[in-house]
Amino acid sequence: EEETTLSITVVGASGDLARKKIFPALFALFYEGYLPENFTVFGYARTKMNDEELQNMISQTLTCRIDKRENCDDKMKEFLQRCFYHSGQYNSENDFAELDLKLREKEGGRVPNRLFYLSIPPNIFVDVVRCASRRASSEKGWTRVIVEKPFGRDSESSRELTRSLKQYLAEDQIFRIDHYLGKELVENLSVLRFSNLVFEPLWSRNYIQNVQFIFSEDIGTEGRGGYFDHYGIIRDIMQNHLLQILALFAMETPVSLDAEDIRNEKVKVLRSVRPFQLEDIVVGQYKGHSKGGKSYPGYTDDPTVPKNSLTPTFAAAALFIDNARWDGVPFLMKTGKALYTKRAEIRVQFRHVPGNLFRGNIGYDLDRTTNELVIRVQPDEAIFLKINNKVPGLGMRLDRSDLNLLYKARYPIEIPDAYERLLLDAIEGERRLFIRSDELDAAWALFTPLLKELEENKIAPELYPYGSRGPVGAHYLAAKHGVRWGDLIDEYL
Ligand code: BG6
Repeated sequence: EEETTLSITVVGASGDLARKKIFPALFALFYEGYLPENFTVFGYARTKMNDEELQNMISQTLTCRIDKRENCDDKMKEFLQRCFYHSGQYNSENDFAELDLKLREKEGGRVPNRLFYLSIPPNIFVDVVRCASRRASSEKGWTRVIVEKPFGRDSESSRELTRSLKQYLAEDQIFRIDHYLGKELVENLSVLRFSNLVFEPLWSRNYIQNVQFIFSEDIGTEGRGGYFDHYGIIRDIMQNHLLQILALFAMETPVSLDAEDIRNEKVKVLRSVRPFQLEDIVVGQYKGHSKGGKSYPGYTDDPTVPKNSLTPTFAAAALFIDNARWDGVPFLMKTGKALYTKRAEIRVQFRHVPGNLFRGNIGYDLDRTTNELVIRVQPDEAIFLKINNKVPGLGMRLDRSDLNLLYKARYPIEIPDAYERLLLDAIEGERRLFIRSDELDAAWALFTPLLKELEENKIAPELYPYGSRGPVGAHYLAAKHGVRWGDLIDEYL
């Protein structure tokens, strides 16, 4: 067998994502011995830099895990020696041909596999793919391209992007990242459900009253207003991260763990989601606020955002899956910037115990006595199950208590970043956690009419103060479906 080598080119190497996530993830893979023996990393961007300057830039964001400090410095040095830079335009085939020469030199006659990571704005995706595929793809090995969202901003533009990319690449060369799929607890969702007898039989309308997907951030769009204003929170978080989690949560049992089997089930469930109505959604936008002598800017105070912008920075939605398993069960989503806390979680609220004998012994209202399974994706990864329990003692009083699997107590290791998992999978050709084009189509089909309606009717977002719990509309939306947001119940209990 001929010897192979791996060349990873990070296009947009001087950008934020590359520096904060991609290079550190590559280093972590190297440290753990997951990269092949022969590999090189190239940074590609317009900025003029030499190899050493790139290495310096990268070295500033590399870290070792807390539990793996051994030889860290040596390892970093070794890694940095394999990092190089090529400066070029994103639409110049000649510049990519020069990159090709440099790649060949490092590849030293071995069979090259080439991975391109496009960490660049969407308007130059196609240029880069054209140049790279024509002038810098591997002749004998594989060539794969990782792309980051946004994949268009509606059905049409997304289809157009796919069509353009497919002029140069086959579907199996395109790795569309949704980095939430690389998060440990999202990956664990299938394990939890399909390998524990106590969960799967309950996973349907018979026992589940509602499911909630909550993603909040405690900072605004600081510095990203220009990008954000063109997309808004529905496209930034809901249409991808939350919908992907919903698909994994609600899909039928796949035939196997094979990428195509899993993605087939995800597409099926996405296509079963009932089309949205305007009344199924609440949008909000944060406004300036001062608290404790400190003032926080509103969304439209950002100089890169138009003063009269109606772009939502918050959204809550109710979705229904019209199939036998989920008929009538509300799937609620809630996401926003500049809220009071940062967290991402999945909450499954079970139905009430019919004819509960202990109704009279519960000191809090009945709404809060349902069992609830909480999967906290971040921070402080955890899975807990809320159960009713007798308060120890001579009386008979019930208490809402937790069976708690807190990751940092159970697994004293640092959990790898989502980008490590995804980069490794792309290198190994494992497509399970990447988005297939028909999945993407189904996701856009669901949100496009709603987004059009919001935008064409210039629906004004409900304003909420920076650092608050978001617009009250979200409570009414949940209440309309007989639901209370689990994160808020927790807080008041
Ligand atoms: C990105 C969004 O996809 O995810 C950002 O564009 C968001 O707006 C980010 O802040 C959140 O990712 P994480 O991994 O930091 O929770």
